[in-house]
Amino acid sequence: MGTQKKYVRNSILRMEGYTPGLQPEDGEFIKLNTNENPYAPSPQAVEAMRTACGESIRKYPQPLADRFRTAAAEVLDLSPDEIICGFGSDDLLTIAVRTFCDSGDSIAFPYPSYSLYGVLADIQGARSVVVNFPEDYSLPPELADTGAALTLLANPNAPSGTMISPGEIKRLAGRLEGMLLIDEAYVDFAEENCLGLIRECDNVIVTRTLSKSYSLAGLRFGFALSNSGVIGQMMKVKDSYNVSKPGVEGAVAAFEDQRWLERNVGRIINTREKLVFGLQELGFFCLPTHTNFVLARAPEHAVAKNVFEALWKNKILVRYFDMPRLDDCLRITVGTDGEIDLLLEALGSIMKEEELQNE
Ligand SMILES: Cc1ncc(COP(=O)(O)O)c(C=O)c1O
Repeated sequence: MGTQKKYVRNSILRMEGYTPGLQPEDGEFIKLNTNENPYAPSPQAVEAMRTACGESIRKYPQPLADRFRTAAAEVLDLSPDEIICGFGSDDLLTIAVRTFCDSGDSIAFPYPSYSLYGVLADIQGARSVVVNFPEDYSLPPELADTGAALTLLANPNAPSGTMISPGEIKRLAGRLEGMLLIDEAYVDFAEENCLGLIRECDNVIVTRTLSKSYSLAGLRFGFALSNSGVIGQMMKVKDSYNVSKPGVEGAVAAFEDQRWLERNVGRIINTREKLVFGLQELGFFCLPTHTNFVLARAPEHAVAKNVFEALWKNKILVRYFDMPRLDDCLRITVGTDGEIDLLLEALGSIMKEEELQNE
């Protein structure tokens, strides 16, 4: 520890670091813990990645991933210079923090939300201003008054799955002194999005990912959208080659296959209804979800951590957060119909046991 103290920045020594969800060996568990898509990615994307892994891999990729920017601009009706790509949307969050926050500046975000936000603030030596969500996860009015250089808002939010309307977010953007980054990692499972705000407000950035709706979490590909001035500044901060050749080619092919996306999103939304219904039947309270996961609060007679552990023993992995406001909940990713049937069946027996134990 003495040596570390000598060499490591104080802000790093003090911080905890981000704890990602568990990634066990393939096939070991029914994996409903990190909001991956249970369906395969577009066959066109798989083929494009395979080709990109051939002889041409000896060369560097396009530094700005122009092929993806052009393809995405076409689909989203934007200009390529309103798009920047990254190694997952986490990379774009890091780039935004480094672009807009000096050390000592404030970064504001609601709680509970994506726990990486506070970690990124710590790494940058920025001050986290944490504003609690109300019980119903509506927009906390205090978020507009923090004076932060950057405000981070996941919409739909994780881990609640809830959503704030674009109209309310536009009003928030208008009141903020600094930049507003809207993290739309789950937006393809929702009915609305905030893309239009990048043209209406000069301080708005939207981030998206191919990890969830496009079934490409392992590829690590995300992108951010804003006006060309903001994107130009973020370009200066990113690593020169922050996406790989297979990454760009896979992402282009996946994006061009919007029918594949729509089919899988439709299937997930159907299964989501069945999951929510099944959980409610077992006495769980589910917040309204606009994502590919559900935050379910355990009924009075059950202890969420025990339910998590019992599911684990049944080789079913969900997410448990030992944190205020979440420690009585489980976050469950929407899997295939078959996976959700097995989950609900296992939960049925576990909840009976819990009821007996806590009588
Ligand atoms: C709200 C939110 N934002 C961003 C991410 C990161 O996604 P990516 O895989 O694109 O880095 C996640 C991943 O779980 C998330 O939940």
